[in-house]
Amino acid sequence: MATIKAAILGFGTVGQGIYHILNEKREELKNKLGIELEVAKILVTDASRERVPGTAHLMTTSMDEVLAEPGMQVVFEAIVNEEPAYSYLKRAVEHKCHVITANKVMFAKRGLELQDLAKANGVFVGYEATTAGGVPVIKTMKNILLVNDVSRIQGVLNGTCNYILTKMRAQGWSFETALKEAQGLGYAEADPYNDISGQDAFKKLMILSALAFGEQPDWSDVEVIGIDSISAEQVHEACEKGLRYRHVAEVEKRADGKIIAKVGPQLVDKEHPLYPVDDVFNAVALETNYIGTLTLVGPGAGMYPTASVMVEDYAEIIGKRAGFVVTI
Ligand code: NDP
Ligand code: HSE
Repeated sequence: MATIKAAILGFGTVGQGIYHILNEKREELKNKLGIELEVAKILVTDASRERVPGTAHLMTTSMDEVLAEPGMQVVFEAIVNEEPAYSYLKRAVEHKCHVITANKVMFAKRGLELQDLAKANGVFVGYEATTAGGVPVIKTMKNILLVNDVSRIQGVLNGTCNYILTKMRAQGWSFETALKEAQGLGYAEADPYNDISGQDAFKKLMILSALAFGEQPDWSDVEVIGIDSISAEQVHEACEKGLRYRHVAEVEKRADGKIIAKVGPQLVDKEHPLYPVDDVFNAVALETNYIGTLTLVGPGAGMYPTASVMVEDYAEIIGKRAGFVVTI
């Protein structure tokens, strides 16, 4: 049986999740895909720290070393920020590696470019994990778009914000306590300002816009408001009136072709579809011409939901390369 090699760039919450799932599902994936996958390199900033027992020999800080590994064909990327992530993935694609990323900061800005480059090099880009964690919105939307037009997307796209708002309302926690807990659970970004300022949801919305409409609005035209200005008193008062705060991201393509987007907190009542979406859950409602409105709900952040969709991307890519449909 053929063996291919993979690298994991970044070995924090998501990177470690990928490693664990690939190990736990090794036999099953091998049987389903007919290919053995070996994690041969793990790229971090500090290679002297062994995060998972038995991985010290795989650690490197050098992308040259990753690409020099004979048989390297798949690169999972779970580091932070646009650079060096984009440059690393560009090099990987030019090296004829398939790439699978969770990095929305990089992908919101450079995703279309990376996909064009991948096409030119005959490899695939998986990016399900960039948006809504474990919710399969990218593959669902790709499928829907084969027949439907999507006119509007509305959703809760940041798990940390939703977790904080939920805990402030339901447990009476302070903003700071809820944020600390979200960090401990691996939901928050390395710099949680991206979560609470709305920037993380904004980047995800731009990825969805690019997929649904083939373009994004001018970033400077989009109003982005976070949850940092919502006080415990406001959350409590809303609750007494039967309302809940949700951090909502929405984008629509108007009849004149203009794309309009906004991100910010909204108060929703019991009738609103986002009312029951609590904790780290995300929800994405897609308005389409034939299906009507389709809403996907699921865990929006965390080690296993995120890593799982990345391994699913891998299985899908390998299935495509081998020309067969992966059956579960
Ligand atoms: P962590 O902060 O837990 O881990 C980041 C990892 O990346 C660390 O191992 C770090 O190395 C490594 N790293 C950072 N910069 C570099 C660099 N320049 N070169 C090499 N390695 C680097 O982050 P997460 O795992 O939470 O997130 C990773 C990515 O996945 C982010 O882009 C995030 O937005 C995205 N994501 C996260 C989700 C989540 O639930 N956490 C969900 C969906 C997407 P070192 O260990 O040496 O510091
Ligand atoms: N920090 C992000 C969130 C991770 O809380 O939604 C998932 O993208």
